[in-house]
Amino acid sequence: MFWQVLRDPTLGCSSYVLGDDLEGSAMVVDALGAVGAEAYVLAAQEAGLAIRWVVETHVHADHASAAHELAVAVNVPVTLSHRAVASFPTTPVRDGDVIRWGSVGVTVWETPGHTPDSISLVVRDTVRGDDPWVVLTGDSLFVGDVGRPDLGDAASAKIRAAALDQFHSVRRFLTLPDFTEVHPAHYGSSPCGGLFMSKKPSSTVGYERRFNRMLMLDEPEGFVDQQLALLKPPPADAERLRQVNLGAVVAPAVHEAAPALPLAPWLQQGGLIR
Ligand SMILES: [Fe+2]
Repeated sequence: MFWQVLRDPTLGCSSYVLGDDLEGSAMVVDALGAVGAEAYVLAAQEAGLAIRWVVETHVHADHASAAHELAVAVNVPVTLSHRAVASFPTTPVRDGDVIRWGSVGVTVWETPGHTPDSISLVVRDTVRGDDPWVVLTGDSLFVGDVGRPDLGDAASAKIRAAALDQFHSVRRFLTLPDFTEVHPAHYGSSPCGGLFMSKKPSSTVGYERRFNRMLMLDEPEGFVDQQLALLKPPPADAERLRQVNLGAVVAPAVHEAAPALPLAPWLQQGGLIR
């Protein structure tokens, strides 16, 4: 299996390339505007892979996505939750949908809370067996924290309901084996998380079960109260970025103004894994 992580350290964003090197196809998850669509195409080409899926774990509100641009470049629709309504071609996915190619199986979990359209991806490498290997948690579960509940709909009346959704969504991750690796869309001081988000970009379900302060809150009311009490100001420009990422606004996002990053080795980690 091919596994690569491309990061934007400025905003603490992670994106992922999953591939089967024998079958020759790849999936890109949460492509970053700061990295640029071309970098994903080149990363896949270098590994001998063709990008067949461009997936967003949700409509991002803190940074510009490269998903649409990348999808156009490789001539596929963007795979998104059926709850997201974009102005460009999409493949809507629902809970339990499975995308399978070669030895890779990706099962979609709907994990609303951070946004109504949040999904997570449970990844299996059948060369190793049928157990989940990795879960890409988007902005649902972070290392040490969970995603804030107020970026999908800023209406305050809906934030409490979203926090309750988040409670149920993040507890679902605890049904995975402890050895399952947790790879979120953010780390560090990303505005999408709360106060407890670690600078470590990945962990395991077992680590989160043991140390994540929000997962220690096993009663819905306590979890919701804590989420609302710890809310930070929303990211500047959040609603405009959402509209940019839905294709409704073409104006460049703030972060797109930065020059394309020459990807340092530590920004682009991974390769063939046996
Ligand atoms: Fe987010």
